[in-house]
Amino acid sequence: MNVGGTIRVPGDKSISHRALMFAALAHGASRIRDILPSADIHSTASVLCTLGVSMPPLSSDLTIMGRGARALRAPSADLDCGNSGTSARLLSGIAAALPFTSRFVGDSSLSRRPMRRVAEPLRAMGARVECADGEGLPMTVHGGPLHAIEWRTETASAQIKSAILLAGVAGGVNVAVREPAPTRDHTERMLVALGATVETHGTMVRLTPPDHLSPVEMRVPRDPSSAAFLAALAVLANTGELELPDVCLNPTRTGFYRALVRMGARVTLESGAPEGGEPVGTVHAAASSLSGITLDRADVPSMIDELPLLACVAARSAGTTTIRGAEELRVKESDRIATVVANLRAIGATAEELPDGMCIEGSDAPLRGRIVSRGDHRIAMAFGVLGALPENAIDIDDRACVAVSYPAFWDDLRRAVRP
Ligand code: S3P
Repeated sequence: MNVGGTIRVPGDKSISHRALMFAALAHGASRIRDILPSADIHSTASVLCTLGVSMPPLSSDLTIMGRGARALRAPSADLDCGNSGTSARLLSGIAAALPFTSRFVGDSSLSRRPMRRVAEPLRAMGARVECADGEGLPMTVHGGPLHAIEWRTETASAQIKSAILLAGVAGGVNVAVREPAPTRDHTERMLVALGATVETHGTMVRLTPPDHLSPVEMRVPRDPSSAAFLAALAVLANTGELELPDVCLNPTRTGFYRALVRMGARVTLESGAPEGGEPVGTVHAAASSLSGITLDRADVPSMIDELPLLACVAARSAGTTTIRGAEELRVKESDRIATVVANLRAIGATAEELPDGMCIEGSDAPLRGRIVSRGDHRIAMAFGVLGALPENAIDIDDRACVAVSYPAFWDDLRRAVRP
C-alpha cells in the first residue's frame, strides 16, 4: 500500500478544553482559533454555558467574553460531560471554588471512571464533594472559599494536576502539586501565557494565581494524538510518506513518535514557530520496517493515549512488544488493556494481557475479523489503521465514536492512501 500527501489533523483536544475553561475564567474577550469541534469539546462548552458563560457555537475563529470566576452562576441543570473525562475532572476543579452546588453527570463509560482522584484534593482544599459509590459519577461538588494546598498524587495524571491548578485559579489560592512522573503540561503553559506565576521543579508544580487572568489569544496547534494514527498508517505502508503540519510537539505528548523511532520507523519532527507557549511543527512519517520494543512506566505518560495504537503497530512489527507500567489504561474510555488484547486476538494476532500492560507478537499474516470498540474512539481509530492495510479485512462495530476526538478521521484515513 502507498501513502502520500499533506494532512491537517484537527486541533488538540487537551488544549481546546483548557482554552475554553481559561477563556471563561479570564477577564475580557478571548480569541481562540482552530479549536477542535469534537463531541468532548462540545461537552466542555455546554457545561460552561450551563454555568452562565455566553458561549457561541464552536467555530474556527471563536470569541468568548470572560467575566472571571465570580461571574459564573449556579447551574439550573446537571453538568453533562458526555464521554469526556477531561471535562468532568478539570471543571470539577473550577466548581470547587464557586459558591453553589454543581452536579456532574456523564455517559455510561464516564460514569464508571474514577473521580475520587480529584474529589480528594478538592476536599482537602475545603470543598464538599460526593461521588456515586465513593468513586464515580454523578459527582456533586458543593463549592465555596478554598484554602491553599500542597498535594502529592499517586497516579501520574494531568487531569488531577489540572483540576487542582484550576481550583487554585478559580479560588485565588496558591497550590502545589507533586506527581510521580511528569505529565502533559498544557495547563501550566497556558497559565503562564495568561499572567500566572507557575514554577516547576522536577515533578513539583507551584502556582501563584493572578488577581485577574488575561484573555486567551491563541491558535490551537493540531493534535499529536490524532496525527499519531496517520503517522502509524504511513510507517505501516509499503511505500510513500505523509506530512502532518502544525502539530503540537510538546515533549510531554510526543512519546509515541519516539517509540516509533525506537522501533526503526522513519519519523522526524520538524520544529516550526511556537504558538501559545507550545512547541509546534511538522511530523514526517514514511514507510518503514519495524521491530518490537519494550516500554516501561517511564515511557507511559507521554504516550498514554497512543498505547492502543502502538499495540496495533506492534502486531505488524517483527518480534515481541511489551508494554508495562500502564495500568491507567484500565480506567480510560474503556479498559484499554482488555479491549486491545481481545480485539487483537479477534482478528488473529497474538497478544496477552498483563496486569499493567500487554505483550504483542508481531506477524505478517493477514488480520481478519470484527472489532468491538466499546464506544471507545481511540480503539476504533487504532484498529481502523490496521483495517486500512489492503491485506487485512477488519470490520469495526462502531465507527461513529471517532466523533469524540476526530470527527473527520475516516475521511482523512482514506485521503492518506494513494493508489
Ligand atoms: C488528558 C490527560 C490524560 C489523557 C486524556 C487527556 C488531559 O488523562 O489520557 O485523554 O487533557 O489532561 P490522565 O491525566 O487521566 O492520564
